[in-house]
Amino acid sequence: MRLIVNGRPVDADPPGHQPLLDFLRDACGLTGTKRGCDRGECGACTVLVDGEPTLSCLALAHGCDGQSVQTIEGLGDVDAPHALQEAFVAEDAAQCGFCTPGQLMAAAALLARVDDPTEAEVRSALSGNLCRCGTHPKIVRAVRRAAQAIRSSDAS
Ligand code: FES
Ligand code: FES
Repeated sequence: MRLIVNGRPVDADPPGHQPLLDFLRDACGLTGTKRGCDRGECGACTVLVDGEPTLSCLALAHGCDGQSVQTIEGLGDVDAPHALQEAFVAEDAAQCGFCTPGQLMAAAALLARVDDPTEAEVRSALSGNLCRCGTHPKIVRAVRRAAQAIRSSDAS
């Protein structure tokens, strides 16, 4: 199969039953995507498949043949952070950070659709992403802060 991972074509033949999460972490070395519950309940493994938030612990790698997968490594990095990453830092929206990649990917999908989400819209979009450290209020503020930053930069 061939898929696009963070903008790069990847040719592979993973086992038919291999979850996308294992494929990304083990075959692609993209360990930013986290395994939390491993049963579709926590959102830590969220990646974007053709732009849609997807639980990579439930999706099969083979099911993504021909599709585009974006992980946290494709969102931004220390040298070129995404507005969401900058906002999470500014709002101190992580403690242990384990849930953060999934939160960021779900938030990125929201901001691709809605440029000025309400607090309720952010909470709804991230409702499948649990944070055991209890940073949800800061995460909501960070997502709205990032939306504002993106709007400002688009206007300039
Ligand atoms: Fe996939 Fe928890 S690890 S939803
Ligand atoms: Fe620790 Fe969210 S920051 S689980």
